[in-house]
Amino acid sequence: MNVNVSEPRIIVALDFSSAGQTLNLTSRLNPSLCRLKVGKELFTAAGPGLIEQLVRDGFDIFLDLKYHDIPNTVANACKAAADMGVWMINVHAMGGRKMLSAARAAIAPGTVKLIAVTLLTSMDQNDLDDIGLQGSPEQIVLRLATLTRDCGLDGVVCSALEAQPLRQKIGADFLLVTPGIRPQENTGDDQKRIATPAAAIQNGSDYLVIGRPITQAQNPLRVLEQFNQEIHIFRN
Ligand code: C5P
Repeated sequence: MNVNVSEPRIIVALDFSSAGQTLNLTSRLNPSLCRLKVGKELFTAAGPGLIEQLVRDGFDIFLDLKYHDIPNTVANACKAAADMGVWMINVHAMGGRKMLSAARAAIAPGTVKLIAVTLLTSMDQNDLDDIGLQGSPEQIVLRLATLTRDCGLDGVVCSALEAQPLRQKIGADFLLVTPGIRPQENTGDDQKRIATPAAAIQNGSDYLVIGRPITQAQNPLRVLEQFNQEIHIFRN
């Protein structure tokens, strides 16, 4: 088992442009029910001060900056992130074996969770042909996830549809972190390959990244509680 039965499995994506908007939402959430994800927009706008505030407020933070650079630079960026007290960070698996290994060497196993992005879900076969990458998106995801595991990282970001084949091929002891989660009745917005929270957990995902269904809700805490309720019966 990868995760503790009682720990929060939902990571709320804070896709905001300011600290004010962010704290307005997080003051209505509860660290025992969720973690938080801070990405490039919010971190660029609000900086480490906001991360430190959210950590002080008791939240575990997934700092989603997808580092991709030469090994030495990525290793130092990972250390700087760890020094802010975050819970999880990520790098691009496309940075290759040396970069992934340098990140792993910088972050001791069992401390900050270190995961990788495989292939961005915005990239289709035409994009792969443009940049000269051989293979289908599915083959590249599996190749990069295998490389990530071989370099000793803790897991990957993957869609709910990729979770089942990855879990089967890569094994149990590897974190799968899954965005694109929507409630059953949802039809709108720009996410295409979506799954309900229950389906993602059943497919083998460990953590679910959920943004707008919670951040745009009239009552974010109630929606978070409903999602937790929904996945509770499927937790391993
Ligand atoms: O609002 P929504 O639930 O769509 O937010 C999903 C979050 O997960 C966003 O922060 C988005 O950037 C991120 N994400 C994603 N798909 C990926 C990787 C990350 O939606 N393949």
